[in-house]
Amino acid sequence: MTRSIASGLRLSLGAAVLALGVSATSQALAAGDAAAGQALFQQKCGICHSAVKGEMRVGPSLWGVVGRKAGTLPGYTYSDAMAHANRVWDAQTLNVYLTNPQKDIPGIKMLFPGLPSQTDRDNVIAYLSTLH
Ligand code: HEC
Repeated sequence: MTRSIASGLRLSLGAAVLALGVSATSQALAAGDAAAGQALFQQKCGICHSAVKGEMRVGPSLWGVVGRKAGTLPGYTYSDAMAHANRVWDAQTLNVYLTNPQKDIPGIKMLFPGLPSQTDRDNVIAYLSTLH
């Protein structure tokens, strides 16, 4: 019940942003809910990733990941696949990656199936964008 009201609100927010003619990328960011994204991050990513600068777990720290070149955080040993991914992480590249990481960059060592829900991806990306 509460959930469908919330997603209804989010849909109308998305429609309002679209009506203003904002580009697809900034719309994805605008539609994301960083607080919901933080909860999801703790649930789905936190076991392998810290949001604290310089703190490595199984995966690299995701502090400052938005705007960072993939596979380049000093002090973390990436797979060859990630080290050669040759992209900058932004709302668009993260959206594709988080849909299906292994499909996006075959051979990476991030053992995570992805977030099938666009809303979940928007929310997590909104949260990651706050980590600066
Ligand atoms: C089971 C552990 C695990 C989980 C769960 C996981 N990751 Fe990862 N992640 C990794 C590992 C390991 C790497 C490094 C991959 C490589 O070098 O091939 C990585 C790499 C990344 C990168 C690239 C970072 C960089 O510096 O280029 C991003 C972005 C990322 N993960 C986001 C996420 C998000 C967001 C979630 C949750 C939705 C998540 N990951 C869940 C283990 C995990």
